[in-house]
Formats: sequence, structure tokens, C-alpha cells
Amino acid sequence: HESTVPDELGRPAVRASEVPEPGAVTIVVPTYNESGNVRRLLRLITESVPARLPCEVVFVDDSTDDTPDVIRAAAPGCPFPVTVLHREEPSGGLGGAVVEGMKAAGSDWIVVMDGDCQHPPSLVPELIATGERVNAGLVVASRYIKGGSRAGLAGSYRTAVSRAATWLTKALFPRRLHGVSDPMSGFFAIRRSEVSAEILKPLGYKILLELAVRDRPRTVTEVPFVFEERFAGESKSTAREGLRFLRHLAGLRTASPLARMIAFGLIGLSGFVPNLAALWALTEVGLHYLPAEIVANQFGVAWNFLLLERLLFRDRRRHRHWADRTLRFALIANADLVLRIPLIALLVGRFGLTVLPATALALVITFVLRFAGTEALVYLP
Ligand code: GDD
Ligand code: MN
Repeated sequence: HESTVPDELGRPAVRASEVPEPGAVTIVVPTYNESGNVRRLLRLITESVPARLPCEVVFVDDSTDDTPDVIRAAAPGCPFPVTVLHREEPSGGLGGAVVEGMKAAGSDWIVVMDGDCQHPPSLVPELIATGERVNAGLVVASRYIKGGSRAGLAGSYRTAVSRAATWLTKALFPRRLHGVSDPMSGFFAIRRSEVSAEILKPLGYKILLELAVRDRPRTVTEVPFVFEERFAGESKSTAREGLRFLRHLAGLRTASPLARMIAFGLIGLSGFVPNLAALWALTEVGLHYLPAEIVANQFGVAWNFLLLERLLFRDRRRHRHWADRTLRFALIANADLVLRIPLIALLVGRFGLTVLPATALALVITFVLRFAGTEALVYLP
């Protein structure tokens, strides 16, 4: 809307140079032991958010220090409501905290930002104004477009890791992240109507990635920002957080059945290695190759089982006891082996295929059956 005449209700026109009157905003701040930062953050927000932008701040806190007390002591000095949701049983880490805050948000717009002053609150009005102007569902504050920088990402090691992670993530989700230069940013604005909290499975730091891939906001746009130095304390990110990020990527990438089947196949292929190694070792110590085949197959089965449990079906394990899952998995994996030969015989004898195509077809059929059987009988959805 860029006209210079009042509309039919007589409301004043919006000029291109002016920021359109935005909806209200809930600022969600995850905090984990940030007592040295929250007072300053609230002061910066107070200085940044204009009176005509209705605002509330929701802290979602998993601290073990006195962060909640510091926030409650500073809140009365703020011209907007400040809430602290302290989680007694934190789940999902940073991302889980952000989703809690989003559920509690009461405004049209939700801005997510860190509690350590690395994200400049002065950008909040611009994020909203940009979203309103281009009618976007998501506005990402990016370090990687012109005008942005990552001054606060201390050290070339962290910079390299961050760059590699961004590249890998963009390679895995080229369509979903089209137009998002900084999917790892922890600073963004999203319309509340674009958030379906119930389908999110937050796991650690990359909540923007989770939202972009699962909730698929309609239009995405970016605004540059300078990632500042942390004000007080130190980063809560650890090597464990890095592993959690890889699990998060795996979970997002295998959300569709087809992607899961491909992952299942790749893990299955990797099982040839322990299978052949065991076969070699067993025949080497003098076992006849037929019983050796059967035993060696169990090594491949065990390897596949462990990888699938840890990577592909990690959050679907709770439906059955581990012993039950192990037994069912072993039965399906070995049934596959036993079924293949009669299936090949059937394809050759009844359907007139020659041996090679019959074997290839039998491999495909038993693979799909094994995948479907494992999904349905071992890991309920
Ligand atoms: N509630 C809660 N629970 N908050 C957490 C948790 C948690 O388990 N872990 C971290 N936080 C809070 C911190 O207290 C801080 O306010 C914010 O989340 C960011 O944590 P930092 O530890 O400061 O993260 P960082 O600076 O290493 O990483 C930031 O920049 C990255 C880009 O380089 C984050 O914004 C990342 O999301 C971002 O990818
Ligand atoms: Mn930080």
C-alpha cells in the first residue's frame, strides 16, 4: 500500500518513505544463565521499540542461576509487559524454549532473539516493518547479505564451522531454504499465523531451520544485521550441541517416507561392511562358508539395527521395549534373506523372467517390504 491519498475510511495515507503501522510484537528470548545480560537487553529493547509498536517480552528460561530474579527485578522499569516462563523440566534445548515462548505469544508478530545482546534490538522495528511492507510470513536477520556481518563470531575455527554448517544445510534443503542466506540465524520475525507449534520437533539451536522446513512460511525475506560480540558470560554451545545439530538435520531430512526409505537403503548398504568383515574372519578361522554366511549376516543386521535406532527411528523407539524391537527387527531382516530365493524361483518359473532381472526385482521387492515392515512392525509412527 503506497498511496498518497487517504483511503475510503479517511485514514491517512502511507507514504513510501514511512514505515507502515505494524501489528503488535511478542519478543521471545531463550535464556540459559544470562544474569549478566538480561538487564542490558531489556534496556536496549526499551530504547529501540517505539511507543506506537505494541510490544511484550517473553523470556523462556532454563537457567540454574538467578536469571529469572534479575529479569523480574528489571521488569517494572520497562514500558511493556515482561514475562518469565521458567521451565522446570527443559526439553528441546534452545529450540524447545523458543517454541514454548511462541505458544505463549499474544501478538501478530513474534521476534526471536538471543539473551546475550549479540542481536541488536534496534533492528526489531525494521524486521516487522519489512514483513508488513512486502507482506512476508518470515523475516530473517541475516549475517550473510550485504550490510550484514558476523563480527561477534569469535575465531576462524567457529567461522569455518559455521560456514560449513550453513553450506551443508542449504545443500540438504535447496527448495525450502531458497532465498534464506542465513538459515542458522537465531534472530528473525515470524507471523504467529505462520507458526504451527504442534508439528514442530525442536532439537537444539537451529529453531529457524525447524520453522522454515516444517512450517513452510509463505513469503520469506531478509534484512542484514551485524552479529555483535556477546556482552557478558560465554556461549552455551558445546560439541554435544554440534552432534545434536546433525541429528536435527537427519530428522528434518527424513521427514517424508520416500526420504526415509532412501536413508534406510543407505544404512542397509553400509551393513555390507561388517557383514563381509565377519564372513572373512569366520572362514579364516576355519568355519564352513554356509554357517559363516548365516552368522556374518547377523553382524550386518546388528549394525543396521544400531544405526537405524540412533539415526532414523530415534524418536520412534519408545513405542516398544528394546528387546521386543531387537527380536522383531532380526526376524524381518532374516525373513528377507529366506524369502528372496523362493521369490526369485517364482519370478523365473511363473513369470518367465531370466535369472538376473528376477534377482534384481526380488531385491527391490524384498527391500521395500523390509522397509515397510520395519516401519510398521518395529517402529510405530
Ligand atoms: N532456555 C534456553 N535453554 N535457552 C538457551 C539454551 C537452553 O538450553 N541454550 C542456549 N540458550 C540461550 C542462551 O542463553 C542465549 O540467550 C541464546 O540461547 C543463544 O545462546 P548462545 O550460547 O549465546 O549461542 P551462540 O551465540 O553460540 O549462537 C547463536 O548464534 C548462532 C549463529 O552463529 C545462536 O543465535 C544460534 O542460534 C545461532 O545459530
Ligand atoms: Mn550468543
